[in-house]
Amino acid sequence: MQILKAKDYEEMSRIACNLLVEHIQQNESPVLGLATGSTPEGLYRCLIEEYKKGKVSFHNMSTFNLDEYVGLGVEDANSYQWYMTDKLFAHIDVPTRQIHLPNGISQEVEQDCLDYERQIQEAGGIDIQVLGLGLNGHIGFNEPGTPFSSRTHAVELAQSTRRANARFFSGIEEVPTQAISMGIASIMESKKILLLVSGKEKAEALYQMMNSEVSESFPASILQTHPDVTVIADELALSKVLEFYGEDGGIPEVEEGKAR
Ligand code: F6R
Repeated sequence: MQILKAKDYEEMSRIACNLLVEHIQQNESPVLGLATGSTPEGLYRCLIEEYKKGKVSFHNMSTFNLDEYVGLGVEDANSYQWYMTDKLFAHIDVPTRQIHLPNGISQEVEQDCLDYERQIQEAGGIDIQVLGLGLNGHIGFNEPGTPFSSRTHAVELAQSTRRANARFFSGIEEVPTQAISMGIASIMESKKILLLVSGKEKAEALYQMMNSEVSESFPASILQTHPDVTVIADELALSKVLEFYGEDGGIPEVEEGKAR
């Protein structure tokens, strides 16, 4: 696991952006796994800027999002489809047919989940999966207790996750109780994982992700076993890790992240 330390949220976003732009420039048909939430917003802003400056084109890119709320359709401003369109896809040249999100209003959830997995395989698998980190260690919407063998599936959202996401809605009662999420096994098959973590409130979760025993009770702990994980975290998110190991280089893997 490689840990890149960023000064702050902006630097974290820029380091991640540089890494993705480089991958997209160097690959004929890049396949990215994308996340929503607050954490990747700065990354998406940066990708749009790079596109507008003419530094990168997304015409060959395919994308697969981690998750979608059950019951929210494309035209719902709280759906992840809307989020992705608003925060990234509408501003770059990725063709619509190359964009994939789980279908939140599916009438045939099981079949659609199988189809989603198949589409990922047909695209050649995910090259780089961008992840955020839930306070309870969830990745995608795989809450504590989700089997490590899980594939794209319907999930019940933990009350703590609904509470954390209520800020995007008019109240917690508006937050859907279910979602469709890529499973943990699906996420782990990505060739590379880019975990972005920002802010003091994530410090404990990041520490646990790196140090707790690998257990389904803290889903992100599985990342310790993936062969190619890069964590880009800002100083606040790394505060507990640094406090534990000591600021001056106790953890050999922590490097200063470089933002071009
Ligand atoms: C979003 C997702 C979630 C978030 C996590 C952190 O697609 O899969 O796992 O990454 O809940 O959310 P933020 O970034 O809002 O703190």
